[in-house]
Amino acid sequence: MKDLITKYNALTAEEFIILWESVWGGGPTIEQTKLAMNHTLFRVSIYDGDNVIAMARMIGDMGLNYYIKDVVVKPEYQNKGIGRMLIEEMKTFVNDNGIKGTNIFVELCAMPDKIPFYEKFGFSANEAQRLKLMHEVK
Ligand SMILES: CC(C)(COP(=O)(O)OP(=O)(O)OC[C@H]1O[C@@H](n2cnc3c(N)ncnc32)[C@H](O)[C@@H]1OP(=O)(O)O)[C@@H](O)C(=O)NCCC(=O)NCCS
Repeated sequence: MKDLITKYNALTAEEFIILWESVWGGGPTIEQTKLAMNHTLFRVSIYDGDNVIAMARMIGDMGLNYYIKDVVVKPEYQNKGIGRMLIEEMKTFVNDNGIKGTNIFVELCAMPDKIPFYEKFGFSANEAQRLKLMHEVK
């Protein structure tokens, strides 16, 4: 592993799909992903040489709500502190952009086995449940 490079708002739709598929299989379409990248508040991506190895992104309204999405470290790079780098970048973004002196709600959704990872950064689960609908766009 050479020195890692962190980039801001550089993550492409193609890179997003590579990382998604490295951990979750069958990724979204390029068209959907390009639209999503264009409307993301903040993207962070990490590279080993020319190869993208990790990403996270923030969506939200900048004032009241920030939502962390798609935190992914390629399997062969996991357990080396890269996930920590991603979450620290997300928290720095909130700190740099939120209204000073306010408390800001930062949310994310995690599978049960990932909750201990997020707890290390101060996140905690509450009683709310995630509801979802895969809406067919006609
Ligand atoms: C979850 C994920 C982002 C963690 O990234 P990572 O680079 O392996 O994590 P790090 O090496 O930075 O770990 C930071 C700390 O969290 C701990 N940790 C990492 N994954 C953990 C887990 N699943 N459960 C408990 N602790 C975990 C590490 O031991 C480390 O602890 P330490 O600082 O006390 O030594 C990575 O496993 C991943 O991409 N998984 C697949 C995609 C995914 O499920 N993403 C989350 C979507 S909710």
